[in-house]
Amino acid sequence: MKILILGGYGAQGSVICYELAKHKRVSEILIAGRNLDRAKALKEMLKSEKLSTCRVDLNNVDELQKAVKSCDLVINSASYVYDLRVMKAALSAGANFQGLSLGPCIDAPGAPTEKVLELVLEMDKDFKDIGRVALIATGEDPGITDLVAGYAADKFERVLEVRMKDCSLQKSESLVSTWAPDLLWYDMIQEPYVYEDGVLKRVPPFSGEEIYVFPEPLGPQPCYHHYHEEPPIMARFIKGLRYAEFKMGGPFMPYAKAIYELGLVKDEKIKVGNVEVNPFDVFCTLLPRPPSMSEIKEMIRKRKLVEDVSCIVTDIRCKDRGKKIDLSYISIMTLKEANKRILGTTATSYLVGVGGEAFTEVLIEGSLKSRGVVPPEALLREEKEAVIRKLAEKGIKILEIVKRELV
Ligand SMILES: NC(=O)c1ccc[n+]([C@@H]2O[C@H](COP(=O)([O-])OP(=O)(O)OC[C@H]3O[C@@H](n4cnc5c(N)ncnc54)[C@H](OP(=O)(O)O)[C@@H]3O)[C@@H](O)[C@H]2O)c1
Repeated sequence: MKILILGGYGAQGSVICYELAKHKRVSEILIAGRNLDRAKALKEMLKSEKLSTCRVDLNNVDELQKAVKSCDLVINSASYVYDLRVMKAALSAGANFQGLSLGPCIDAPGAPTEKVLELVLEMDKDFKDIGRVALIATGEDPGITDLVAGYAADKFERVLEVRMKDCSLQKSESLVSTWAPDLLWYDMIQEPYVYEDGVLKRVPPFSGEEIYVFPEPLGPQPCYHHYHEEPPIMARFIKGLRYAEFKMGGPFMPYAKAIYELGLVKDEKIKVGNVEVNPFDVFCTLLPRPPSMSEIKEMIRKRKLVEDVSCIVTDIRCKDRGKKIDLSYISIMTLKEANKRILGTTATSYLVGVGGEAFTEVLIEGSLKSRGVVPPEALLREEKEAVIRKLAEKGIKILEIVKRELV
């Protein structure tokens, strides 16, 4: 199988390349992005003959179409803003598609995530007609969150409520970005989604503050509503759902809230002296880019990066045979655990990259029979279970805690 990985040397893409290069059913991997030197540096580090590099700027559709030709699978780990054009290119080349997230696209200006979801789903029949699958929103969150919510929906009569929380903690000499900072901060300043009683609402950024007790070493941490794609996807794919929310937590979040409230990430032009600037652009330009895997190895060796913990909790209320059942699905990763398995990963890039790649392996091994456009919620029960087993093999354990009345 020949796989094109767009954004292949990025924080998540490089981990996906690492894992896929070991897989016996993968014959060739094209690492693509705008910077050929960075692609070549990853190829050199991974030392696999399956790897080759190509320069693709996703703003140039011709370059994209050339790169996609003769590929069996195209993974977009560059940015969700290109999903629509990458899916169309995959379709015209007769390839499968996999995306790591879902959000506003440059090909649908002004369309919010729920509208982009509809546009993406319009390609469902086309993918089915050519016998291919487009896996959308695979990774940690979205990805594992959607998988466990769908798993609970398969297992119990009805899923009523889904409450997701992402929490991370870092100890480092200076801030280390563990994913694209411009995308993280885009999410910080948008009005988050809350799905309630059939209505997809928007609430103010950093609203819904609560202290949530995460597993150690995180412990109690402040959490706030955060803009993410799971509520619109779940509203569409989990029948009978009454409520869905996504919150972001951790010791950094009150600082993020202060940055937001001070107007330091305002996404509009302001005049400073004689110059017009956009504070959001200035802020994102100042943030460090995610380091490469080699750079992370060095940071760990020099103790510039000492700890990174990432945890995703999905609390679900179900109803089954007249009884309410409360479930929690928890996955946690530390820098140490991640680096025992793959040197040069962070806890986040391990959960996202390996988490996403677990879906890819189930696809390339032939255990994924679904065709068309499919988020994790919509996979068949046995497909979800295959992904969950694959995650566990790779050290991503999902703990299930069930609370239900005995009688
Ligand atoms: N599901 C999850 O849990 C989860 C978590 C984190 C991130 N994500 C998603 O993963 C994707 C990648 O994020 P990341 O953290 O890996 O970001 P990243 O480290 O910035 O990597 C993005 C890569 O894409 C390349 N790229 C950007 N614009 C491009 C363009 N126009 N043409 C070609 N290549 C381009 C970049 O290289 P050049 O700039 O050199 O071209 C870079 O290598 C995003 O869509 C993000 O939303 C998902």
